[in-house]
Amino acid sequence: MSSPREQAARRFQDAFGGPAPRLAEAPGRVNLIGEHTDYNDGFVLPMGIERHAVVAFRARDDRRLRAVSSAFGETREVEIDALQPGGGHQWIDYVAGVAWALRESGRLVRGADLAVAGDVPIGAGLSSSAALEVAVARALCAASSLPWDAVEMALLSQRAENAYVGMACGVMDQFAAAASVEGHALLLDCRSLETQAVALPAAAAVVVMDTGVRRALARSAYNDRRRSCDEAMAALREAAPNLRALRDVTPALLEAERSRLDPVAFQRAAHVVVENLRPVSFAAAVRAGDLAAAGRLMNESHASLRDLYEVSCAELDFMVEIAQARPGCLGARMTGAGFGGCAVALVESAQAEEFTRTVELAYRARYDLPAALFACRPAAGARLVD
Ligand code: GLA
Repeated sequence: MSSPREQAARRFQDAFGGPAPRLAEAPGRVNLIGEHTDYNDGFVLPMGIERHAVVAFRARDDRRLRAVSSAFGETREVEIDALQPGGGHQWIDYVAGVAWALRESGRLVRGADLAVAGDVPIGAGLSSSAALEVAVARALCAASSLPWDAVEMALLSQRAENAYVGMACGVMDQFAAAASVEGHALLLDCRSLETQAVALPAAAAVVVMDTGVRRALARSAYNDRRRSCDEAMAALREAAPNLRALRDVTPALLEAERSRLDPVAFQRAAHVVVENLRPVSFAAAVRAGDLAAAGRLMNESHASLRDLYEVSCAELDFMVEIAQARPGCLGARMTGAGFGGCAVALVESAQAEEFTRTVELAYRARYDLPAALFACRPAAGARLVD
């Protein structure tokens, strides 16, 4: 199979002809720890993966976007000045949404011809949509001679997804796609948007474990969880009006005010306030060379997502359970929004190959699903591939 770069370039030539296009790409991401904390102003620790959305592009002299998708095999055309948020969830909406958000920000966006391709599995919780948005932003900025600022473009891509596509996600995925650092995970404070790059030692491998489960339900369940967090905050503010987000709530404060909260809202908040401490502890453990401690935090995170936040599922739990039982596994947890998609494990590098093979076999013996496991090094954020 040809690479996504080759596919994008070939699609472009087939659809639009002319001289060779330029290429922009952005990675998918896997979140190591800090789940469902980003929209609570908290901490997350994602890393870019070596799977990318790629956009082949060439500027046009008008204000039209023509885009062709290698995965969906169709060409779509839109006028940048006519774009209106409409809540569509097709691939073109992610492309058009970014052009809309650039226009709304007051930037002068030129029209462009675009061909998109990629190898981030769609709907697997590895943020294929954020990768696409950010790769499109990188391409349109280059085509329009606009300066590239990774943080601004992460926020702009998130706006495209929130307001144009109509998905109420936090900032983690777009941030990872835009600003990841090769060889590092990114400790991101979702309130200040400050980051620290955390070098991942060669002794540990990050293994992505795709359960093969794809569930449409995730969107409404995600919005439900956000609502519970808002409810918890509204109740807690009666006691402490200055609190801004669950990020500001300590486990002790939550416990003290427990009677004010509806039991479900309490349970959700109980996940968030402790999970929010884990990315910082994980980063400290990795820096201190204590990979066993980092792994334990991942195991605790999974239990909390399963029992308190209730966003896991039988397949994710099984994958994590067999992973945790393998020799060399330091820790494992579900990753991303949940309800299917992927889990992630931290594995001693020397054992990673054996781990990947045996966990996949054990999983497939139980579930007849297109599961896939792969080890990946942390990849860089969005860039031009000239
Ligand atoms: C999805 C969202 C992110 C984040 C995670 C859960 O990936 O897009 O913003 O909320 O779920 O941590």
